[in-house]
Amino acid sequence: MRRLSIVLALLLASATASALAPNDHVDNFRLFDHDGKSHELYYLSDAKAVVFMVQGNGCPIVRNALPRLKEIRDTFESQGVEFRMINANLQDNRASIAKEAEEFGIDIPILIDDTQLIGESLGLVRTGEVFVVDPRTWTVAYHGALDDRLTYENQKAEAKHHYLADALEQMVAGETVEVAHAESVGCLINFPETGKRAVAAHAQISYSETIAPMLQENCVTCHREGGIGPWAMTEYNMVRGFAPMIREVIRTKRMPPWHADPHHGTWANDRSLTAGQVQTLVHWVEAGAPRGDGPDPLAESTKVWPEWGMGEPDLIVEITPHSFPATGIVDYQYQRVANPLDHDVWVRAVEILPGDRSALHHVITMFGEEHPEAENPRRRFVTKGTLGGYVPGNSTEIFPEGTGTLLPAGSTFMFQMHYTTYGKAGTDKSRFGIYFHDEPPEHQLAGTVLMNTKIKIPANTKAHTESASQVLKRDVLLYSLLPHSHFRGTASDFIAIYPNGDEEILLSVPKYDFNWQTSYEFAEPKLLPAGTTLVHHTTYDNSAQNAANPDPSIEVTWGEQTFEEMLFGAVTWRYLDDNNDEPVNRLSRAGDD
Ligand code: HEC
Repeated sequence: MRRLSIVLALLLASATASALAPNDHVDNFRLFDHDGKSHELYYLSDAKAVVFMVQGNGCPIVRNALPRLKEIRDTFESQGVEFRMINANLQDNRASIAKEAEEFGIDIPILIDDTQLIGESLGLVRTGEVFVVDPRTWTVAYHGALDDRLTYENQKAEAKHHYLADALEQMVAGETVEVAHAESVGCLINFPETGKRAVAAHAQISYSETIAPMLQENCVTCHREGGIGPWAMTEYNMVRGFAPMIREVIRTKRMPPWHADPHHGTWANDRSLTAGQVQTLVHWVEAGAPRGDGPDPLAESTKVWPEWGMGEPDLIVEITPHSFPATGIVDYQYQRVANPLDHDVWVRAVEILPGDRSALHHVITMFGEEHPEAENPRRRFVTKGTLGGYVPGNSTEIFPEGTGTLLPAGSTFMFQMHYTTYGKAGTDKSRFGIYFHDEPPEHQLAGTVLMNTKIKIPANTKAHTESASQVLKRDVLLYSLLPHSHFRGTASDFIAIYPNGDEEILLSVPKYDFNWQTSYEFAEPKLLPAGTTLVHHTTYDNSAQNAANPDPSIEVTWGEQTFEEMLFGAVTWRYLDDNNDEPVNRLSRAGDD
């Protein structure tokens, strides 16, 4: 009996040992909320305090505490305190959380911890708990009940102790928080992976059979010798050394580089890990990244990366070499090269062979006509079409089945080249490979650009949204969407408003990253009937909190330089009925008038 109680006491101690305590460090994380918006903890570094309340659908304590939480929010928000809720419940999802928010008037973003990894590391125990993070140190300043008004099945008219309000008052005044912890009540959250047995199992996750193959499949295209990734996953020791960094980039959704909200659309080129893979990888790192038994697939890999992914191209174009410095920002380079062909060809695929994979961040290929006599410099090159591009890890572009692009004789290629420096100066000599159709394809690849050159982004603003739209004149089969903005772009979406008024979010990118110019390719082409309005939004962060912002103190308008901004949504499609007089491959403008 005595032994049993000792064991129980130990178990209890270990189960609560990981719970959040005052002064504990809080690692950074990024989560999407019930509205699909992205939130990063460390972005809030200019706040006086960050308050989280643990939310759970159906929990009476949370519902009952809400009005008071909102009162506190109304008092302290204007004093620089940020308020969020967080839901780590296994049984809740975005739709049910949105419904609860609607029903109970929750106007505070509810961050959804769908892998439970953040809740695990914060040591969340019950819904209704509050924790306050001090952004000066990223430590817990207060953890526990909001106040002492609520107990199970009981509530007082008035609280005696206002723990949260007192703590915030002290923090805003720059004082130390007097009561940093108070017991809290609420519904226990089920964390199946924090139990002793589960934690022991994490140490048994096989590097050889599980982790290395996962990395090979999802990371090594970039993280290899000569790849775009800053370090190569060549053996266990490399992965082990970078293990804490792997945990960080996964918790902040930086890697793998895929920025679409998984709730909208299914993508052929999806680079993301599944929730299960994310949990396995992070649990393995948190277990100390054990080597275990078995061979090392990363060290033993004999994979040879072919020079051209699809074999020798029909035409190889040498892009004008460009020298870049060791550090600093390189403005976009626009390289023009004459098309050497004296006859028209139908293009079925293209590939960019990067000269320096570490420096070359993206290429967008256009073709058009040169008009050197034109007075307006903008008119000296008239774009007639696009021929895909290059983003790290995705150098080939095979046009959708049965489609192609007509490349006219006498045209000029225009390559938009983006370089990022990496500590070593060099010269990039990239090449462009083109693969022809033997016969003209059934359909011409076409598309449009949703752009708005009238954008005006106010200075010192955290979120400013602009848009462009276009009404489709014909039925189209949509293939891909590419949102493009510069350093201040932080979120983008494409929405279809159908002729019957229904709206559908086709693509949402809650955390746009200028470094990754990803074209999102539909797994199944999407039919949009004539009369559909296609809308493209981009939200800009022109504040000092945006680490990429070159200057928050100026109003920003349209321009091709990276210190200027763009709202540019590139869309590829084909017309369902090709027999029309609609110009093909036209880079039409929308939202300009
Ligand atoms: C498409 C190419 C690509 C893929 C796929 C990719 N990475 Fe990366 N990774 C990069 C690049 C480029 C950087 C550096 C720039 C950045 O952070 O955006 C990077 C940075 C990192 C870093 C941070 C290094 C540092 O010190 O800042 C880690 C860790 C990392 N990647 C891990 C992974 C893991 C794990 C995967 C697979 C699950 C993965 N990456 C998939 C290209 C890639």
